[in-house]
Amino acid sequence: MNTADKIPSDARGINYTGAATCIKCHTDIGKSFVHNAHGLSSSMVANKDVSKCLETDSNSFAFDANMKVKIEKRDSGIYQVAYINGKQTRAQRFDVAFGSGEKAFTYAYWKGKKLFQLPLSHFSAIKTWANSPGFPIKVMYFDRPITSRCLECHSSFVKTEKKQVAALAMDEEMEKGSLIYGIDCERCHGPGKQHAVFHLENPEEKTAKFITIFETLTRKQKMDACGVCHSGNTLTTIQSVFNFQPGDDLDSFYAQDFVSFGGANPDVHGNQTAMLKGSMCYRKSEMTCQSCHNSHETVKGNMAIYSQRCISCHQNQKHTELTLAKGVLKTNCIDCHMPMQASKLISFQTAGNKNVNPYLLRSHHIGVYPGK
Ligand code: HEC
Ligand code: HEC
Ligand code: HEC
Ligand code: HEC
Ligand code: HEC
Ligand code: HEC
Ligand code: HEC
Repeated sequence: MNTADKIPSDARGINYTGAATCIKCHTDIGKSFVHNAHGLSSSMVANKDVSKCLETDSNSFAFDANMKVKIEKRDSGIYQVAYINGKQTRAQRFDVAFGSGEKAFTYAYWKGKKLFQLPLSHFSAIKTWANSPGFPIKVMYFDRPITSRCLECHSSFVKTEKKQVAALAMDEEMEKGSLIYGIDCERCHGPGKQHAVFHLENPEEKTAKFITIFETLTRKQKMDACGVCHSGNTLTTIQSVFNFQPGDDLDSFYAQDFVSFGGANPDVHGNQTAMLKGSMCYRKSEMTCQSCHNSHETVKGNMAIYSQRCISCHQNQKHTELTLAKGVLKTNCIDCHMPMQASKLISFQTAGNKNVNPYLLRSHHIGVYPGK
C-alpha cells in the first residue's frame, strides 16, 4: 500500500484528508483548533452541551400566558417542545448546533434531507433562552429552513442536491452523512492530502510543499480568504463557496455588491470586511485581517494585546487633553475606536414579547466615535 492509500480521504473528494491527518504533524495548532471559534462554529449536538445550559438556566420560554416552549430531556435526546394551554403541540430534537456560543447558539433539526431551525436560541449576553432572531413573536415557529448557505460559512462541507420543483423554484436536499462540522484546516488552507502524503514520505523536508503559502498571497487574495465568510450574508452566490480555496478570486463566487467599499452603511453582523475597508487605517496602509488576528491563537478579550497591534502602526497618536484624561489610553484603544455596536439585522426577543435586546458586535470601522 502506498502512503496516499494509508491516509483517509473525506466527503470533499480524494484531494482532501480531514483535520485528524493534519493534526498528526501540526500538533500545537491542532490543540488550539479544538477550542477556537472556527473549529466550533457548528457541531453535532452532544446532549451534555445542552444539558450544561439546562443546569443553569430557566428551561422554558413563555410567548404569552398560554403558549410556551420547554426544553426537555427525553430518552432519544433533548427536545424543544411547544405547549398551548399545557397541551403538547410539537416536539423537535436538537440535532445540529450553530455557533461556538461566543454570542449565541442556534439549533436545527433534521427532517429527511432538510434542516429546520428550532424556535429558541441561547444567548450568552442574557445567559438564557430567547426567541430565535427574526422569528415571529406570536407563534411558536418550527419551520424556518436552514439552507446550505448557513453551512457554507459555518461548516467545512455538505453535499447538496438541487431539484427543480417549479419553473423558478429550486428545492435543496442535503446529505447528512457528508456534513463536515466546524471550519477545519482544509476549509481555510485548501485541499491538503498531497501535502500530507509528501511530508509523510519525506520527513526530512522542512519546507512546505503542495500547500498554499499564505504569506505569498497578494493583499486582495488574503482579504478574500477571510472575506469568503466575513462579508456578510446578504450577497448572492454565483457558485458554492465550499469550492473556494486560498488564492482564488472572490469575485467569481459572489455577485458584486461589496465593492461598495464600506460605503453603503454595512451592518456590523458578519461583515468585518466591508467595515474594515471603509476605515482610514485600511485605505492608507497595507492592513489585512492578519494585522490584528492570527488565525490559530486565542487572545479573546485581551485588549492590551490588540492595542499593541494598533501601536505597531500608531506610535504617537495625537489625543486632546480631554481624551488623555480618560486614562487607559495605552492598554485599550479598542473600546474607543472599535466600539461594540448593535447589529441592525439581528436582535432578539426575551420572554414576555416586549423587550428587544440588541445583539452587540465589534465594529470593524476603525475611527473616532463621538462621545468616546
Ligand atoms: C507528515 C507531516 C505533515 C502532515 C500530515 C501535514 N503537514 Fe502541513 N507541514 C508539514 C511540514 C514539515 C511543513 C513545513 C514546516 C512548517 O511550516 O511547519 C508544513 C507546513 C504547513 C503549512 C504552512 C505553509 C506556510 O505558510 O509556510 C500549512 C498551512 C500546512 N502545513 C497545512 C497542513 C494541512 C492543512 C494539513 C492537513 C491536510 C497538513 N498540513 C498536514 C508537515 C505536515
Ligand atoms: C468558512 C468560513 C470562514 C472563513 C474562511 C473564515 N472565518 Fe472567521 N469565522 C467564521 C464564523 C462562522 C465565525 C463565528 C464562529 C462562532 O463563534 O461560531 C468566525 C469567527 C471569527 C473570529 C472571532 C473569533 C473568536 O474567537 O471570537 C475571528 C477573529 C475571525 N473569524 C477571523 C477570521 C480571519 C482573519 C479569517 C481569514 C484568515 C477567517 N476568519 C476566515 C467563518 C469563517
Ligand atoms: C480560519 C482559517 C484557518 C483555519 C481554520 C486554519 N488555519 Fe492555518 N492558517 C491560517 C492563516 C490565515 C495562516 C497565516 C498566518 C496567520 O494568519 O496566522 C495560517 C497559518 C498556518 C500554518 C503556518 C504558520 C504557523 O502558524 O505555523 C500552519 C502550519 C497551519 N496554518 C496549519 C493549520 C492546521 C493544521 C489547521 C487545522 C488544525 C489550520 N491551520 C486551521 C488560517 C487558518
Ligand atoms: C456569509 C457567512 C455567514 C452566513 C451565510 C451565516 N453566518 Fe452565522 N456567522 C457568521 C460570522 C462571520 C459570525 C461571527 C461574527 C459575526 O457575527 O460577525 C456568525 C455568527 C453566528 C452565530 C453566533 C455564533 C457565536 O458563537 O456567537 C450564530 C448562532 C450563527 N451565526 C448562525 C447562523 C445561521 C443559522 C445561519 C443561516 C441562517 C448563518 N449563521 C449564516 C457568518 C455567516
Ligand atoms: C497597518 C497599520 C495600521 C494599524 C495596525 C492600525 N492603523 Fe489606524 N491608521 C493607519 C493609517 C495609515 C491611518 C491614516 C493616518 C493618516 O492619514 O494620517 C490610520 C488612521 C487611524 C485613525 C484616524 C481615523 C480617521 O477616520 O481619521 C484612528 C482613530 C486609528 N487609525 C486608530 C487605530 C486603532 C485604534 C488601531 C487598532 C485597533 C489601528 N488604528 C490600527 C494605520 C494603521
Ligand atoms: C478614551 C477613548 C480613547 C482611547 C482609549 C484612545 N483613543 Fe485615540 N482618539 C480618541 C478621540 C476622541 C480622538 C479624537 C481626538 C481627540 O479628541 O482626542 C482620537 C484620535 C486618535 C487618532 C487620530 C489622531 C491622530 O493621531 O492623527 C489615532 C490614530 C488614535 N486616536 C489612535 C489611538 C490608539 C492607537 C490608541 C491606543 C493606544 C487610542 N487611540 C486610544 C479616543 C481614544
Ligand atoms: C485593527 C485591528 C483589527 C483588524 C485589522 C481586524 N480585526 Fe477583527 N477584531 C479586532 C478586535 C480588537 C476584536 C475584538 C476582540 C475581542 O473582543 O476579543 C475583533 C473581533 C473580531 C471578530 C469577532 C466579532 C465580534 O463582534 O466579537 C471577528 C469575526 C473578526 N474580528 C473578524 C475580522 C476579519 C474577518 C478581519 C479582516 C476583514 C478583521 N477582523 C480585521 C481587531 C481587528
